[in-house]
Amino acid sequence: MDIERMLAELTLPEKAALVSGKNSWYTAAIDRLGIPALMMTDGPSGLRKQTADSGTTNINDSVQAITYPAAALSASSWNTNLMHQLGEHLGEEARAEQVSLLLGPGVNLKRSPLGGRNFEYLSEDPLVAGELGSAYVQGVQSKHVGVAVKHFAANNRENQRFTASSDMSQRTLRELYLRTFERIVKTAYPATIMTSYNKTNGTLNSQNRRLLRSILRDEWGFHGAVMSDWGAVANNVQALRAGLDLEMPGKGQASIDSIIRAVETGELDEGTLNKAVRHLLHIIDNWLPADKPGTYDHEAHHQFARKLADDGIVLLKNYHGELPLNPQQAGKVVVVGELADQPRYQGSGSSHVNPTHLTTPLTALQDSALEANYYPGYRLDQSETDDSLMEAALTAAKDADHVIIFAGYPENTESEGFDKTSLMLPENQSELIGRLSKINDHVTIVLQNGSAVEMPWIHSVDAVVETYLAGEAVGEATWDIITGVVNPSGHLAETFPRRLTDTPMAPTFGQDPNHEYYSEGVFMGYRYYDTHEMHVLFPFGHGLSYTTFEYTNMAVDENAHGATVRFDLTNTGDRAGQAVPQLYVANHASHVPMPTKELRAFTKVAVEPGETKAVTLKLNRRDLSWWCEGKSRWQADSGDYEIMIGDSSRDIRLQTKLTMDFKNSPAPVTMETYLSAIVWDPRLQGIFKDIVLAPEHANAANFLANTDDDGNLTLLQDQMFLNMPLRAVIALGGPADLITDFIAAANKH
Ligand code: BGC
Repeated sequence: MDIERMLAELTLPEKAALVSGKNSWYTAAIDRLGIPALMMTDGPSGLRKQTADSGTTNINDSVQAITYPAAALSASSWNTNLMHQLGEHLGEEARAEQVSLLLGPGVNLKRSPLGGRNFEYLSEDPLVAGELGSAYVQGVQSKHVGVAVKHFAANNRENQRFTASSDMSQRTLRELYLRTFERIVKTAYPATIMTSYNKTNGTLNSQNRRLLRSILRDEWGFHGAVMSDWGAVANNVQALRAGLDLEMPGKGQASIDSIIRAVETGELDEGTLNKAVRHLLHIIDNWLPADKPGTYDHEAHHQFARKLADDGIVLLKNYHGELPLNPQQAGKVVVVGELADQPRYQGSGSSHVNPTHLTTPLTALQDSALEANYYPGYRLDQSETDDSLMEAALTAAKDADHVIIFAGYPENTESEGFDKTSLMLPENQSELIGRLSKINDHVTIVLQNGSAVEMPWIHSVDAVVETYLAGEAVGEATWDIITGVVNPSGHLAETFPRRLTDTPMAPTFGQDPNHEYYSEGVFMGYRYYDTHEMHVLFPFGHGLSYTTFEYTNMAVDENAHGATVRFDLTNTGDRAGQAVPQLYVANHASHVPMPTKELRAFTKVAVEPGETKAVTLKLNRRDLSWWCEGKSRWQADSGDYEIMIGDSSRDIRLQTKLTMDFKNSPAPVTMETYLSAIVWDPRLQGIFKDIVLAPEHANAANFLANTDDDGNLTLLQDQMFLNMPLRAVIALGGPADLITDFIAAANKH
């Protein structure tokens, strides 16, 4: 396309139509100039292409497509290679369906386990979400299909999602809620970004100039197009002025007319409109599908859905090696729970897919080598116990060698569009687990759920297998893990707290219809639990294997920009397995509140029994930085850092100290500078001693100094004193002239 020529030829109404969206899934076509409509479709875990006549009212009426595991499970793989492959598979399917833009991945952080859409999001940690999200985007786009990374930004609750404001400090926004997007934009060059419904600090995100222009484009260098979430725009003229390029799905002629009017009255500069049109024309030009629809191998894609689920399923507990069950030696096995027959394998709402080939755990059981009898145990459509189903399960389980209970959240409790109110399983399921585990000592729980679950029964069961929402191959993948065909290697990408009330935002989450106060700041997820040394049910990064891993020989080499961390990883068991080494950093150098550890790198490594592999992870300056609000930039401080290698945030296997010397331009010294800042900075302390504590000013300096054993004056290190800015020191009798001289000298450097 000759984009500049087209821009010159487009009329005002045509430009207004282009940036307004034609309908739910298409941009407007301008036939006169040969500009085609661009098709987009949900979603993150499988295509939800709606047929031409179905509209959006029936959200589940879409073409058949492979249903991959929901993001909660695929992220538990911590496997960037598989996430790239997931993207490639989705990309191939999108091309086969002539889709130009795939509306995903969803990369918002799981701030509270009550977030209704957590199943669709990757992690509570911005690095995990950023790395996995970036791999996914690169995979999709390698197949010449664009993505929409969503939902930009700080969209962490569903209730009142169209109007509520996510209110937080700039540091919290930068270090957590923007960080994932920043990483993806800078490493994967996504075609588009989708703004979220909510406001951030009072401004609607789709009309938020600071987010859309200053940060996304000017700072991060984003070159794609910015589209709104469906119905997120309140005022499309303001949105265009703030940096939005495409209102979706558009309000038809009303949207077009308001743009025309705004240009005619001067409210909207036509140059601003042109910018948006230019971004869109580039997207249409870059991502239009080939003329002929492609094809893909359904069975191969289904097998990939199984592989991804195999890699993500998390073995949470395995007391006395209850699992894997060897089909030849398992004895009498009883499977209980209607979810084995009617599994929950995907989320609801815009990520809902119409699967090609669903295998339920019950049907897959027949194809596995395991022999077992099935009892529903409870009814999914009610939360009260059904006595006859319960009794039948109890009778069968009494003399069973192993009992496997399928439990989880029914579909109506977890969806896009509303938040959850509890982390408890339905009462009938809890009661069933309680009663069965009283009469049988070998109980395994298989969970199907979109987000963290409270487990008051955890001590009375032997094994817990977290399958989240495992996609259409849920049946095969479940037995792959239980029977040991696959050695589990999934690790939690979120913390499972013991109780909802342990979460830092428990008292306020979703309480104010207009505001969500992120008062926990950067202390979210494991950053909170670990700093406060709280017990959790299962920590962030946790996941068991049927083999064991040993970490040895850690070495850290620092350079001017960061460090390289090396260690050896040995499979000390007798089965091949995959480990997920996690590198955490504790920052002791910066004088701001810091979590006791933050994840800064990770990898996934396959190791044969007895084999040792050398692993290298890198840290760069940004990994050691924090967002300084005063300077409005990232800052890395000289000083000590603790480097930890763990199997989870609570299972640290190796640790060592790293001392960094970063060349920072010093912060200006003013009358507002605290004495503590002078004491902590050797350069400032030296200048202070030379000027203010010079022997010839002994009288004036007395007020500020101690005399050490050698008769030298040293800066008073009294806590109360350190907590004073220079102007207060003067107000209390300090030498104003000397302090003024000190400020001048300090700023000269
Ligand atoms: C969701 C988006 C989705 C869009 C189109 C919205 O309600 O928030 O994630 O892509 O609908 O279905």
